[in-house]
Amino acid sequence: MSAPPAIVERGSAWDELLAALRARLSSATKLTEGELLGPKTTMRVGGPARVYAEPATEADLQVLLAESSARGLRVFMLGRGSNLLVPDEGVDGLVVSLAHAAWQTFEPRADGRVWAGAGLRLKNLCGLAAKAGLEGFEFMEGIPATVGGALRMNAGAMGGWTFDVVEEVHLLTLAGEKRVMRKAEMHVDYRHCAELATAVALGAFLRPKAHTDTAAVKLQIEEYAAKRQKSQPREPSAGCIFKNPPGTSAGRVIDECGLKGERVGGAEVSPVHANFIVNRGDATCADILELVRRLRVRVKAARGIDLEPEVMLFGRDWREVL
Ligand code: EPU
Repeated sequence: MSAPPAIVERGSAWDELLAALRARLSSATKLTEGELLGPKTTMRVGGPARVYAEPATEADLQVLLAESSARGLRVFMLGRGSNLLVPDEGVDGLVVSLAHAAWQTFEPRADGRVWAGAGLRLKNLCGLAAKAGLEGFEFMEGIPATVGGALRMNAGAMGGWTFDVVEEVHLLTLAGEKRVMRKAEMHVDYRHCAELATAVALGAFLRPKAHTDTAAVKLQIEEYAAKRQKSQPREPSAGCIFKNPPGTSAGRVIDECGLKGERVGGAEVSPVHANFIVNRGDATCADILELVRRLRVRVKAARGIDLEPEVMLFGRDWREVL
């Protein structure tokens, strides 16, 4: 029995992509089929990527983007995987991770700025900045993100957000063209950066608030860490699942609706912080989505508030799922 024509065509587009990539990518770049994504996320759920790549160079990243866009195939960027839900069935696309060491650069420059590569983890950025006596990055300590993901989401904590310290972002368009954008040219908001919804950040020039002594920076980092450890759960999660509605905290609202401990399968509303859905060990993405729907319905009924998901859903539109 033959497969339906649409599937044959789609399959061959992926085969062509793989052949083109194998011919053009350097040997240092990892390229696989069917790579499991769940273990690469902090929520620890989700199926495989159709194609998965870890480019070792900017030229290889350009090839990945250009070859995919030329064939109309979808590309998804994977950062630290902390603000992300991967569907159980996986992702029919090319998933690209800047996990190679080449992207983890931290380079203080003579003009006072710091270059941070998109693959650098914020925790490392924070530690390296403290060591160099650079103030202004302390709020990033507990955000489990890479620089690229933090730029994409304008990630924030403790009253600060990523673009507070950004001067200039270097990016590739989905067609693989390089652009340099000043912060003032970008459209940035709470947990949102419009330009990076359709482009890939290579890294950014950051501006420290001040030069000071390492001990003072470390002290502030420790204070934030203590606050976070008290107020946020330790179990696997995707961080805050909903954006805060104007003027209030989603966690407080869900808590006031009596929904802490609410459970679907292995997914549970954390008893520590109600805007975290934690994975009790055997959660599926379907469990989490069902719990998200339930929380939205209950909060809407009790308080008239429409909670909007903060986490990204790989390969699917939240509007289809909710
Ligand atoms: N609260 C409750 N019950 C709860 C949770 C919170 O009553 O279950 C109350 C707290 O007592 C506090 C208020 O709600 O009075 C705000 O709580 P919190 O300080 O934890 O801040 P949040 O608004 O819930 C935001 C960010 C977090 C970030 C923290 C700390 C969003 C959606 N969340 O949470 O970011 O870590 O501030 O700065 O903006 C994330 O984006 O993934 C994330 C975790």
